[in-house]
Amino acid sequence: MNTVDQQTALEHTAHKRIKEVLGLDGNADRLAKFYRQWASTYDLDVVQYGYCGPIIVAELAAVVQMAYLPKERAATAILDVGCGTGLVGVELERLGFRLIDGFDLSEEMAEKARETRVYRNVRGDVDFSVPLSGYSASYDITVCCGVFTLGHVQPDRLRELARVTRPNGFIIANTRRSYADATCFADEVNRLQDARVLVLTHCLNDGRYVTEEDAHYWVFRIPENASSPEV
Ligand SMILES: C[S@@+](CC[C@H](N)C(=O)[O-])C[C@H]1O[C@@H](n2cnc3c(N)ncnc32)[C@H](O)[C@@H]1O
Repeated sequence: MNTVDQQTALEHTAHKRIKEVLGLDGNADRLAKFYRQWASTYDLDVVQYGYCGPIIVAELAAVVQMAYLPKERAATAILDVGCGTGLVGVELERLGFRLIDGFDLSEEMAEKARETRVYRNVRGDVDFSVPLSGYSASYDITVCCGVFTLGHVQPDRLRELARVTRPNGFIIANTRRSYADATCFADEVNRLQDARVLVLTHCLNDGRYVTEEDAHYWVFRIPENASSPEV
C-alpha cells in the first residue's frame, strides 16, 4: 500500500469508528465497552477527523481564568469531565494550569489520561449520567469537551457540572451542532438559568470542532447564591 492509500485507509477507519460511537444510544455500558476498545487509537483517529475541540475549550478556560478568577492560573482547580485520553488536560497544562483533575466512564481512556502526567488525579469507571459521588462544589472551572454529543449524555447532565463547580466558578462545555439541535440543548440552558443554577455568560456559536461539523462553545457562571442543582 502506498502512502496515499495508507492515509486514506486511516481516515476511513477513523470515520467509521466515529460514526459508530455517535450512533450509540447513551447507554453507559455500551459506551464504556466502545471506548475500552478505542482507547489505544483514539488520539490518532481524532487527528484524522480534524478534532480541535480540546484546544478551543482549554483556550476558553485560560481566558476565563485571566478575565474573572482571583487565583493564579497554576492555583486554579479544574475538573475535566469525560477527560478521555487527556487531550484537554494536555492543552490546559500547556497554558499553565497545574491543578487538573479528570474522570471518565472508561478506565482504559482514563489510564491514557494518567499517562500524560498532566493531571493531579484521574478516576476511571465514573459515570456522570448518574449523580457523581466524591465530588463537591470545589472546582473553579469545570470543562467538558466532546461529551455533550450524539450517542453520549443528555443535556440535563449540565446540572451535575453545576453541582461540582463552586459559586462564581465557571463551566465550559461544547455541543456538536447537530446534538444541540436534536436535544434542544438551549432549552435546558434556559431552564437552568430560570432555576438560578447557572448563568450563560458567553456562547461561541458554530465554532470549529471537527472537519465535518461545527460546535457551540458554552461558558456558564455559577451564581454566588445559586440554588441547589440537585435534581
Ligand atoms: C469524544 S470522547 C472526548 C474525550 C475528551 N474529552 C476529548 O475531548 O478528547 C467522549 C468521552 O466521554 C466519555 N463518556 C461518555 N459517556 C460518559 C459518562 N456517562 N460519564 C463519564 N464519561 C463519559 C467517554 O468514555 C469518552 O472518553
